[in-house]
Amino acid sequence: MTPHTEVRGPGDILQLTMAFYGSRALISAVELDLFTLLAGKPLPFEELCDRAGIHPRGARDFLDALVALGLLDREGEEIYRNSPVADRYLDRRKPGYVGGYTRLADTKLFPVWARLTDALRTGEKQVPSQGGFFGGYADPEAARGFLGAMDAVNGGVGHSLASALDWTEYSSFVDLGGARGNLAANLHGAHPHLQATCFDLPEMEPFFQEHMKSLETTDHVRFVGGDFFTDALPRADVFIVGHILHYFGLRQREALVARIHQALAPGGVVLVYDRMIDDDRRNAALSLLGSLNMLLTSDEGREYTPAECVRWLSGAGFTDIRTTAVSGPDTLAIGRKPR
Ligand SMILES: C[S@@+](CC[C@H](N)C(=O)[O-])C[C@H]1O[C@@H](n2cnc3c(N)ncnc32)[C@H](O)[C@@H]1O
Repeated sequence: MTPHTEVRGPGDILQLTMAFYGSRALISAVELDLFTLLAGKPLPFEELCDRAGIHPRGARDFLDALVALGLLDREGEEIYRNSPVADRYLDRRKPGYVGGYTRLADTKLFPVWARLTDALRTGEKQVPSQGGFFGGYADPEAARGFLGAMDAVNGGVGHSLASALDWTEYSSFVDLGGARGNLAANLHGAHPHLQATCFDLPEMEPFFQEHMKSLETTDHVRFVGGDFFTDALPRADVFIVGHILHYFGLRQREALVARIHQALAPGGVVLVYDRMIDDDRRNAALSLLGSLNMLLTSDEGREYTPAECVRWLSGAGFTDIRTTAVSGPDTLAIGRKPR
């Protein structure tokens, strides 16, 4: 089997070495809020530089690099506009905005990835134990940045989950570790008959309320605060657990899956999604690198293969287990609790 990225010669090695140039250019464009500035409104070069606060020296190369990367279009020599994809996903005022993750890359991922060699030598995470990767929820601005990044990813997953099951068979779901309720609100929007619950740490509640208000979904989704390892879980027909298991060690993963099995109604279903690694562990480069992100940011976390997930679900008593690709690099595992 051929690896996902074939590196055939020195040119490929240099290209991989410099892969962060493009990433950094995108991050700066999001930091300068360029795509919001250009949303629906092309601007001539000088006006764009003035309004975005870009010094003329690097401006042409920066903007034309974004053209070459497919993020901007240029008309003639002077007029810049968003490419359709940038206009849809990088305008901060649009619901599909994914720039939250780009901001997280800027403030958190770049600094911590600079410490990868230390993590490889010591086997230890490279973030403080207190507050962890993003600093906890005590600093509201930092928390909103992290939550915006989560929503950038779970927005697409929510869309896939809406068609992953015949939801008419079920009347309730719990999104476990559902953060500020973004996915729960989207799923409820697609299937309004469902009783929707977002379960997360109690300190998440103000951010949940704030987000529901901004989405105009207050009263559609309820919030239950607690620790999913120790507090009673609400009963429901479906449990969703996304981007959670990868953060913990094996013992905690198995304990959580067993608790979900116990809380589910007979005949109910668990949906697990994460950036899973291919079973052969040689093709899903982004997932394998994502697993190193878990090394850098958690005590015992790592990404896992669909086969491992199937084993944990089966060990907890789930049947009819299947796995399928969902939005972006995520894989979804579905298991049923027998009646
Ligand atoms: C990486 S985020 C994933 C959010 C969301 N499921 C998604 O896919 O975007 C992990 C979430 O789990 C929550 N969490 C972590 N430990 C928890 C615990 N012991 N009990 C309840 N929630 C927890 C965090 O507050 C955070 O919202």
